[in-house]
Amino acid sequence: MKKILVTRRLLKSNEDRLKTLFEVNLNSNDELYSQKKLIELSKNCDGILSALTDKLDKDTINKLPKSIKILSNFAVGFGNIDIEAAKQRDIAVTNTPEVLTDATAEIGILLILGACRRAAEGIEGAKASNWKWSADYLIGKQLTGTRLGILGMGRIGKKIAKIAKSLGMIIHYHNRSKLSPDKEEGATYHETLKGLMSVSDVLSICCPASKETVNLINAETLEYLPKGAVVTNVARGDIVDDEALIDALDRRKVYAVGLDVYKGEPNLNPGYLKHKSAFILPHLGSATKETRTAMANLAIDNIDEFFKTGTSKNKVN
Ligand code: GLV
Repeated sequence: MKKILVTRRLLKSNEDRLKTLFEVNLNSNDELYSQKKLIELSKNCDGILSALTDKLDKDTINKLPKSIKILSNFAVGFGNIDIEAAKQRDIAVTNTPEVLTDATAEIGILLILGACRRAAEGIEGAKASNWKWSADYLIGKQLTGTRLGILGMGRIGKKIAKIAKSLGMIIHYHNRSKLSPDKEEGATYHETLKGLMSVSDVLSICCPASKETVNLINAETLEYLPKGAVVTNVARGDIVDDEALIDALDRRKVYAVGLDVYKGEPNLNPGYLKHKSAFILPHLGSATKETRTAMANLAIDNIDEFFKTGTSKNKVN
């Protein structure tokens, strides 16, 4: 039986299934392993079922025992893993696409609604019971007729576009390549980021984190937005230069932000906290029972398939 290190606690049904397929080294206290501890615990293991909280950088990967053949990441994003370093060591890296599209798109929409309709201030007022209804109390931005710019029209971007369209938003997008008209469903393509941002009353960041997208939203690119735009991020914190976005909030260039992901999670830049208009969530994108169950099952299937066939359809390196 192959031996698998599982770096974070999973839902019980998933751990039970793992035990039927592999010899497993589980993390029953859900401790966040240091890189050193993760290397130690992976001794004699054949694979690792990792999470986005594990920083599997080049140095860590190079110190893993030779027996490790697969890193099955319990996430669609794999920015936490140096996939090239893994490839050099002949270690397969897999992810969990598709199963979390709907749940993550729901949070993407929540971020848009929460930021546009001033939900953070509303929740604070309601909890403090110090609010008074008036004709102009917490007036926000209506979505109907508002232009939504989707940065990264992959599965999650497309689903957000579909829901946003049903709310009356007008969809624009920027992608490496233009989609075929049937997949665009009426959305307008922009070849450049500048083109997209200049028409985005609301920006929804949905692209993966990669060397090309780190700090893509920065002091220069934020200036392309119309004044008073809303910026939301359901993808990865690394895509945003926080100082620049906070400065844009300070200057009211940006009206509000809706964020689920941060650089250096779980610590977010304190500059966001001083802004009442910041609608912030703790990386809840895929956090539903159905989705987390399906993600873990897919991460398990990826390992099983890899050891049975030598590869996996969700291999990313
Ligand atoms: C969640 O953020 C994921 O990448 O799965």
